[in-house]
Amino acid sequence: MKQISTAILGATGYTGSELIRLISSHPQLNIVHLGAHSQAGKPAGEVLPGLGDELANMPLLASDAAFADDVELVFTALPHGAAANSVKKALDAGCRVVDLSADFRHQSASTYSEAYGQVHPFPELLNEAVFGLSEYARARISKTRLVANPGCYPTCTLLPLLPLLKAGVIDTSHIIADAKSGTSGAGRSAKTDLLYCEVNEGVRAYGLPRHRHAWEMEEWGKAFSGSSLTVQFVPHILPMTRGMLVTLHLSGENPESWHDLLTTAYANEPFVRVLAKDVMPSSKGVNGSNRCDIGMSVTGKNSAVVVACIDNLIKGAAGQAVQNANIMLGFDETLGLSLQAMWP
Ligand SMILES: NC(=O)c1ccc[n+]([C@@H]2O[C@H](COP(=O)([O-])OP(=O)(O)OC[C@H]3O[C@@H](n4cnc5c(N)ncnc54)[C@H](OP(=O)(O)O)[C@@H]3O)[C@@H](O)[C@H]2O)c1
Repeated sequence: MKQISTAILGATGYTGSELIRLISSHPQLNIVHLGAHSQAGKPAGEVLPGLGDELANMPLLASDAAFADDVELVFTALPHGAAANSVKKALDAGCRVVDLSADFRHQSASTYSEAYGQVHPFPELLNEAVFGLSEYARARISKTRLVANPGCYPTCTLLPLLPLLKAGVIDTSHIIADAKSGTSGAGRSAKTDLLYCEVNEGVRAYGLPRHRHAWEMEEWGKAFSGSSLTVQFVPHILPMTRGMLVTLHLSGENPESWHDLLTTAYANEPFVRVLAKDVMPSSKGVNGSNRCDIGMSVTGKNSAVVVACIDNLIKGAAGQAVQNANIMLGFDETLGLSLQAMWP
């Protein structure tokens, strides 16, 4: 018998539909409410062709529809700006919330405004929200009612970076994070620059001069390690559906020792795997899984390259959200999450 009645808001989007897929096979979470916006009123299966019969027949409810009394857990997979109101409403209804948007990821309303160009509607909730990079915030996640799920690029950058930052071995004044993502990272809504003809057989940088995830990387890199850092972050979009790869160009002392630091940091982590020296991860190696794979090569006396891969929709969004819900609810952290990637 599944215990926890769960609502997914933004169920028709890419991260929302991934939440449906993961939660439908979770042994303790039961989907009772699917929220949508422009698609509200339709049966879910009309908008999400991948759904099996039972879920396909569930109605998509308006984003402001009330929750049934038994709903305990709400995932908000909505655009930033729109998510904040839904999060507030769910908290006021007594629910625990995992928010996949950026609305509660920053510690101050001024950083949020700088990164997102808008005024935060509920700054009083920023102190309460816990930034849910699961491996680094378990104790706080287990006690909160609001988890701000990290962005995909910050997850894929901070997981390989934090053990080195904490050890104080890298030059933190000039960290280069060169990143690639598939187009699902930009969501499901129609955008001209994401049309097949514009993305297929090409690659391009975007988000310059400063992508909004750079604030998140620097803020939480410092919060978790104690050291300030400057990240020069350049994302690129590739003609693939899902997957993300971040290459960190690092300099510092004794890079021959860094592989051991990474291996030790993640020795007991189910969802972070450090590969053998000079073995590089690939996006295909993690797609469909909640894993982050990390590879590293020493490239000079004082330099190294560290490469990390995640599935942007899973460890970068819905998978980490379920991992955080498991921690919040006191379940085994791996429940409902796959370690195995889809292959090929
Ligand atoms: N895509 C990724 O890889 C990724 C990774 C990490 C975090 N995120 C974050 O997760 C959130 C969802 O991303 P996504 O990629 O799943 O987006 P998406 O595919 O564009 O889906 C957006 C969802 O929100 C609903 N929606 C749109 N405008 C709304 C509004 N004004 N009020 C209420 N609901 C609204 C849509 O409903 P209708 O379809 O009914 O209009 C849809 O269900 C975003 O904040 C994003 O930044 C995304």
